[in-house]
Amino acid sequence: MFQPDKSTYKLADGHEMPQLGFGTYKIDNPDLMNQTIATAYDSGYRMFDTAQLYRNEKMLGDAIKQVARREDVFIIDKVTEMNQGHDLTINSTDFSLQQLGTDYVDLLLIHWPVADHFFETWSAMEELKEQGKAKSIGVSNFTRSQLELLKTQADEMPVVNQIETHPYLTQQPMIDFDKKMSIVTQAWSPLGRGIVLDNPMLAKMAKHHGKTPAQIILRWDLQRGVSIIPKSKTPERIKENTELDFELSDDEMSMIDVMNKNQRTGNEPELVYELGKQY
Ligand SMILES: NC(=O)c1ccc[n+]([C@@H]2O[C@H](COP(=O)([O-])OP(=O)(O)OC[C@H]3O[C@@H](n4cnc5c(N)ncnc54)[C@H](OP(=O)(O)O)[C@@H]3O)[C@@H](O)[C@H]2O)c1
Repeated sequence: MFQPDKSTYKLADGHEMPQLGFGTYKIDNPDLMNQTIATAYDSGYRMFDTAQLYRNEKMLGDAIKQVARREDVFIIDKVTEMNQGHDLTINSTDFSLQQLGTDYVDLLLIHWPVADHFFETWSAMEELKEQGKAKSIGVSNFTRSQLELLKTQADEMPVVNQIETHPYLTQQPMIDFDKKMSIVTQAWSPLGRGIVLDNPMLAKMAKHHGKTPAQIILRWDLQRGVSIIPKSKTPERIKENTELDFELSDDEMSMIDVMNKNQRTGNEPELVYELGKQY
């Protein structure tokens, strides 16, 4: 049984992470942030995803304080490309904590892999965990070969890999590899930023279950063991995206699996790795 405020995944470091979180990319004014966070918290979301890049950490921290106690929420933040390297990772995270108005984040991620400072950045992440400034540490947009490279020098491995995945970019081999490494996969743009929502097959399944295409996709992720962080600024959709207590059959799961077109809405991780920045 799925309950947005209670269902969690156990991470390899022993911490629990909510299965469902709320994405805040492009929620960039305080009124909208206060409104969406209040609706999200009321609807049962307990995990909130931000990044240094989104420039909304302070707004998010302030909005959370209005509705919840720190210990009742799980905050994810991400170190941006230009803040990578040992000292910048440490200093920029200190600044992020100040912005969020908290002593720790529950999960700190490297936002994108970049070739320069690759190991140094991770070693700073390990230090931040040691200091209690991040309860858990992970990565985002890492490919299999980048995780294999990291493993050659890491003292501990990431516990989460946040990657783009939706029915048009199913990423099953990557998810299988994460699992083999005891890494929980978290889906960013789980709704493909809208591009998959008019798929006729999803509409058919939605009708059958009395649900919406967005709910079918989010349920598919939960059934394949993937954490989800959909974003919406629309109160009805924020709530709708938490109502996932139903079951897709094995056939329905397979029908979504084969919608894959390897179609990205975001950057290609290998290129960001080479360029050192998003393009
Ligand atoms: N790690 C990374 O590199 C990375 C990259 C991108 C995103 N992210 C994170 O992932 C989060 C989610 O990704 P995203 O915001 O790019 O895309 P998304 O969650 O896949 O899609 C958001 C879009 O879908 C619409 N939507 C939401 N729920 C809906 C529903 N039930 N029915 C119909 N439409 C719906 C939203 O519209 P309205 O808002 O108008 O309702 C919005 O236009 C981000 O906010 C961010 O926190 C991480």
